[in-house]
Amino acid sequence: MINMEILKIKEKFGDFYIADENTFKMGIDKRITSIISERFKNKLVLEACSGAGFTTISLAVFAAHVYSIEINQNHQQQAIKNICKAGLSDKVNFILGDVMNDKLLNNVPIINSAFLDPDWADTKRSIHTYRFKNSNTDPPADILLKTILRLTKNVALILSPLVDANEFIDIPLHELQRIYLDSKHVLYCLS
Ligand SMILES: C[S@@+](CC[C@H](N)C(=O)[O-])C[C@H]1O[C@@H](n2cnc3c(N)ncnc32)[C@H](O)[C@@H]1O
Repeated sequence: MINMEILKIKEKFGDFYIADENTFKMGIDKRITSIISERFKNKLVLEACSGAGFTTISLAVFAAHVYSIEINQNHQQQAIKNICKAGLSDKVNFILGDVMNDKLLNNVPIINSAFLDPDWADTKRSIHTYRFKNSNTDPPADILLKTILRLTKNVALILSPLVDANEFIDIPLHELQRIYLDSKHVLYCLS
């Protein structure tokens, strides 16, 4: 545990994992990841980005293997520990670096699906707009999607519920899922 109450983490992620303020906030609730991850059954999954590995754990339960890329070493260390705690280390390779780096992407073994969860944290500007086109997520969601679609068409992308859904109209044929938790629209999943 890093400055977080164990029970808060347990409630959201399902076990005594570790997180800090950032990775707790950005981590996706296990009730969501367990359902999304079923689509990746027996797949070779590229995950961008790991955070503290909460989605990685769900993906690894179903997938044949997960290659998970994360740019922040501190987040990656938490993810490695959490996957180990989940007993799933043999199903995940963690790669430290920028998922937008072609050289790094070219070195990822063959994959046939991808799960993308860029960081859409508020950038502390007084007015923050959540958008898909000309994206201000980290890495930019629109460019990330385009980049990964070159590797596989089997992609799920997580976005803020505050993005205007009209922004998705001219991307390749897709399903747009509105994900609710306790009657609150918490995420978009574009796949
Ligand atoms: C929303 S979090 C992922 C949360 C994760 N899905 C979970 O459930 O715990 C986004 C992560 O993207 C990482 N990130 C940002 N830019 C990146 C990049 N260019 N390449 C790889 N990872 C990046 C951040 O450090 C952060 O850990």
